[in-house]
Amino acid sequence: MKVTVASVATTLALGVSTVLGAPSTIETRDSVTPVTVKGNAFFKGNERFYIRGVDYQPGGSSKLADPIADSDGCKRDIKKFKDLGLNTVRVYSVDNSKNHDECMKALAEAGIYLVLDVNTPKYALNRAKPKESYNDVYLQYIFATVEMFAKYDNTLAFFSGNEVINNGPSSAAAPYVKAVTRDIRSFLRARKLRHVPVGYSAADINTNRLEMAQYMNCGTDDERSDFFAFNDYSWCDPSSFSTSGWDQKVKNFTGYGIPLFLSEYGCNTNTRKFQEVESLYSTDMTGVYSGGLVYEYSQESSHYGLVKVNDKNVKELPDYDALKTAFSKTSNPKGDGEYNHTGGANPCPAKSKPNWDVDNDALPAMPSPAKKYLKEGAGKGDGFGGDGSMDAGTPSTETAKPGSGSVTGTAGDVTSTSSKNAAAGLQPPQLSMAPIVVSLVTGLSTLFGAGLVLL
Ligand SMILES: *[C@@H]1O[C@H](CO)[C@@H](O)[C@H](O)[C@H]1NC(C)=O
Ligand SMILES: *[C@@H]1O[C@H](CO)[C@@H](O)[C@H](O)[C@H]1NC(C)=O
Repeated sequence: MKVTVASVATTLALGVSTVLGAPSTIETRDSVTPVTVKGNAFFKGNERFYIRGVDYQPGGSSKLADPIADSDGCKRDIKKFKDLGLNTVRVYSVDNSKNHDECMKALAEAGIYLVLDVNTPKYALNRAKPKESYNDVYLQYIFATVEMFAKYDNTLAFFSGNEVINNGPSSAAAPYVKAVTRDIRSFLRARKLRHVPVGYSAADINTNRLEMAQYMNCGTDDERSDFFAFNDYSWCDPSSFSTSGWDQKVKNFTGYGIPLFLSEYGCNTNTRKFQEVESLYSTDMTGVYSGGLVYEYSQESSHYGLVKVNDKNVKELPDYDALKTAFSKTSNPKGDGEYNHTGGANPCPAKSKPNWDVDNDALPAMPSPAKKYLKEGAGKGDGFGGDGSMDAGTPSTETAKPGSGSVTGTAGDVTSTSSKNAAAGLQPPQLSMAPIVVSLVTGLSTLFGAGLVLL
C-alpha cells in the first residue's frame, strides 16, 4: 500500500557450507526446512506453515535501502523479530550487486523466512507503460536477484510485483504482471534452482481484488502463480470478523486453489490492538488464508511502526507490545487448519470495464533477448546503482503459446508463424487453416460467379 516498488525475493545458501572439510551432505544443523505449497496451503515438511510476519522496510518506502545487505542492522532487528514471535519478514527491494549471506544465515538460525519483492524502483513494470517496461534488461535484473536468493533455504517466496494494478483501468497491465510471474518460475526450473513459490502482492482494491486473484490462477500450469497475496487495511480495531467484512472475503475466496495471505495488514486509524490476529489464525480463516504480514516494523512518516530505529538502538513503541501480546495468546489451529487438499486452477475472469480490463488469457511472450538467461544464467546484477530498465532494452513482440513456460516447452514459445515451433507444424489450427479458408471462398465465388453467368 505504501510502497511504489515491486517486490524482491531472497534466499539463503547455508547449511551444507557451514561445516568445513566435512562431506558436504551430512551436516545441515543451521539450515531451515524450505517451505512448499500443497493444495491451498504452505507446508514446512509435513506441518502446515502460517506466515506470522512483518514488513521490514527500515527507512520507509521513500528511502531506498537493502536491510538484508546491512548485517549489523539485520542482527540488531532479529532480536526483536524473535521476541515478537515472528517466522517471516518481507523486504521490498534488495541490491543484487551486494552480498546477503550473513543476514540470511542469521535469519535462518533464528528460524525466520524471507518473502522478497524482486523489483526495485528503477527495475520494475511501469503500470503506465507495461509493454515497454516488460523488456530483457528488466528480466536480467530480476533473474539475477532470483538466482542469488533461491539458494537460501529460508527464502519463502518471491513477489513478482507489488500493487502494479492500483485501480480498475490499470488492470490492463495484468497480463504483464502474469508474464513476469511465469518467467520467474520458468527461470527457476530452467536453471534447476529450488522452486521457491512465486506470486503477486495486490493492492487493497474492492472492485477487482477477486478478478486479480482468479486471473493469476487461471490458464495453463506454467502460467499460474504458486500463491496470491493482497494488502488489507479494512480491519480497524475495535472490530470483529463480521464487522470488518473479513467473513465475506473468506466466503468469496472459498474454493480458491492456491495459498492466500495478507502481504500488508494493520489499520492504524484507531489504537491498534491487533484483534485481527485471533481471527487470522483461527479456523474462521485458515481454511482459506495462510497468515499475513503486519505493516510495518519500523516507524516511518506514515506511523505504522512497531519500533523506532535510531542507529544501534531500537525503541519499542506501544504497537510493539500490542502485536507481541496478540501473537503470544494466539496459537495456530490444531491439525491442518482445514486447508483444501486438492487446489488447482479456476476459470479466467470475464472482461468487465472499467473494473477489469483484460480481454482474454493471452500473455506476452518472453522478450527474445531474455531467453538466453534461461540457458546461461542471469549473470551479475547492477544493483541499486544500475541505470534502470523502464526505458531500456527490447520489449516483447509476440503472444505466448500456453505451456511455453513449462519445463519441456522451449520457454518463450510464441504463436506467431515466424517461430521455429510454428515452422515445425505446432502453430494453432486457426493459423494453418487460414489458406484453406481463403481458397474455399475463392472456389465458391468462382462457382457462384459461373452460375450467375449461366443464369
Ligand atoms: C464478495 O463477492 C460479491 C459477489 O461477487 C461482491 O458483491 C462483494 O463485494 C464481495 N465482497 C468482498 C468483501 O469482497
Ligand atoms: C478446493 O479447491 C478446488 C480447486 O480450486 C475447488 O474446486 C474446490 O471446490 C475446493 N474445495 C473446497 C471445499 O473449497
